[in-house]
Amino acid sequence: TISTATTISELKSKLTSWRSAHQTVGFVPTMGFLHEGHQSLIRKAASENDRVVVSIFVNPTQFAAGEDLATYPRDLAQDQLKCLEAGADLIFTPHVSEMYPSGFNTYVTTSGVSELLEGKSRPTHFRGVTTIVTKLFNLVQPNKAYFGQKDAQQVAVLQQMVRDLNQDLDLIVCPIIREADGLAKSSRNTYLSTDARQQAVVLFQALTLAETLISNGELKTSNIIAALNTHIQAQSLTQIDYIKIVDPTTLQDIDNITTDILLLLAVYVDQTRLIDNKLIHLE
Ligand code: PAJ
Repeated sequence: TISTATTISELKSKLTSWRSAHQTVGFVPTMGFLHEGHQSLIRKAASENDRVVVSIFVNPTQFAAGEDLATYPRDLAQDQLKCLEAGADLIFTPHVSEMYPSGFNTYVTTSGVSELLEGKSRPTHFRGVTTIVTKLFNLVQPNKAYFGQKDAQQVAVLQQMVRDLNQDLDLIVCPIIREADGLAKSSRNTYLSTDARQQAVVLFQALTLAETLISNGELKTSNIIAALNTHIQAQSLTQIDYIKIVDPTTLQDIDNITTDILLLLAVYVDQTRLIDNKLIHLE
């Protein structure tokens, strides 16, 4: 079994013993229902640190009213096995009241990259992410923290926060892990019906299509986006939230491709909102 701390004091007593032995700590924040994507972060952390802490906390402040907070999938017993298998040493699974006791009244807010894309569709989302991640960084005080490129804008927002607030750790970005047909692994894939699951591969197909168009010399982003729109809309259950081709660091829209770009998709398949992205390098 793997040790599991539910209170801050349990977490701190473990960390204190590791620190006094001069051991380095890697940290992987998650919302649980772990899959191979999360495990790839844990494995990377285990390869680069003496100890690895995984947090499992479905963070209410990053969900808006009407989103899936109440139905977000949970399975702590499976998660414990997956953490153990991937090389974690400790799981931190606080109750909501431990992280947000009554009277809680302080938030971390970034500007700029957090206001675009996901920030437009989900206006309070990143404030919840930056607040909980800062609290977890303060508690765990890791040497390195690991995040997935799956949530490309989350990475950009957290890099901004770490830089601006002088948070004393290295932020490590890990590649997107996919299913055999290309669908990016996500805890939310469990919401998909059989039909929706089949159609969900259209996000990966669109990323691949864009790459092909670009390598065939199509550099006008409006043409690429129009082609992806057509391809995705051909699936009956899809509804596009956004398709964007942006600068990988500023996340500002690009009209004509002259250098590396980040392609970002947010698409509803049935009722489930899926995101995916790809960094595309100009040859
Ligand atoms: P969650 O969605 O559980 O994801 C935890 C971490 O796993 C994130 O860094 C995410 O990018 C990464 N991840 C998810 N799917 C992945 C995949 N297919 N390949 C690679 N990495 C993947 O992101 C969150 O939780 C929360 O916002 C959190 C940062 C924990 C704050 O509450």
